[in-house]
Amino acid sequence: MPLTNCAPNVIIMTHTHISDPHPHHERPGHSPALNHDTDLAELLDLDAALGAPVLVEAMDAASAVLGTAPRRAVDLGAGTGTGTLALATRFPDVLIHSLDASPKMLDRLSAAAARADVANRVETHLVDLDGDWPSVLPGPADLAWAALSLHHVTDPAQVLRQVIGALRPGGVLVVTEFTGGTKYEPADLGTGRDGLGERLVSALAAHGYPVTAEWSMALSSAGFTSVQRLESALTASARTPDGARYLAVQLTHYRALLTDDLPADDLSALDVTIAALTAGTSELGLTSGRAIWIAVRPDGADR
Ligand SMILES: C[S@@+](CC[C@H](N)C(=O)[O-])C[C@H]1O[C@@H](n2cnc3c(N)ncnc32)[C@H](O)[C@@H]1O
Repeated sequence: MPLTNCAPNVIIMTHTHISDPHPHHERPGHSPALNHDTDLAELLDLDAALGAPVLVEAMDAASAVLGTAPRRAVDLGAGTGTGTLALATRFPDVLIHSLDASPKMLDRLSAAAARADVANRVETHLVDLDGDWPSVLPGPADLAWAALSLHHVTDPAQVLRQVIGALRPGGVLVVTEFTGGTKYEPADLGTGRDGLGERLVSALAAHGYPVTAEWSMALSSAGFTSVQRLESALTASARTPDGARYLAVQLTHYRALLTDDLPADDLSALDVTIAALTAGTSELGLTSGRAIWIAVRPDGADR
């Protein structure tokens, strides 16, 4: 079964896929986890809400480089549509081609686009990014968007060369990834157990999560210019209802994943944290680092 950690701080399984372009064992960082669809859908929605400032930062930076609003964009590994919807909302004239290899993700994306009343400006394409995906695009794009997706492909250098070919001269590529800087505050998660947060982060890292990647050199090697790397972060606070619910669902997933990895006292302490989050008495905060790359297709690049 293909696995993907498909949103910041979410590790999920996807049941349906056109094919498995990368079997599980070839995907470092993709760990088995729970698959409660209801929780997952909620977590993805909360993730989109809490991650919105990161997307705004990325769109601001891309806009500043583009100079004019994009008319055609391509969302590579669009997932449930977090980036697609952010772009459609920010740029009222943009038409977005949302590419993914998972029909389930694209179904969710289409439903979300309809709910957001932007379905007329979103076209989904069931494609493998390791194949000839540029052929589904009707013409050069102003903006390409690859959020938490480039690390999934077999040959990122090849995909980046394809992106160069898919962009117009002066077109911009935005890439985002985790930086691995995950921090809980307070570090004991409000339980009195010193270092619980660090042990949780280490245990997740032992499962290869989160997947981190650095793309500055690969972007330059592929022919992109003006490559910028920005640091950002998703933050969640238990002091807000969305933040508390997000942390509760996320820690419930992690607890189940790490049953064999953490000592029993840590697992009990996590139960206490989850109960406090659910009761609205927790003051827990999470900071999860993100890197954003902005790269430009130069005039002379090969198409
Ligand atoms: C971590 S999710 C990111 C989703 C979305 N960009 C976001 O920011 O929430 C990665 C997405 O890439 C898709 N994906 C992974 N490998 C792919 C491939 N070879 N071709 C097309 N899509 C792929 C997965 O199905 C998944 O929806």
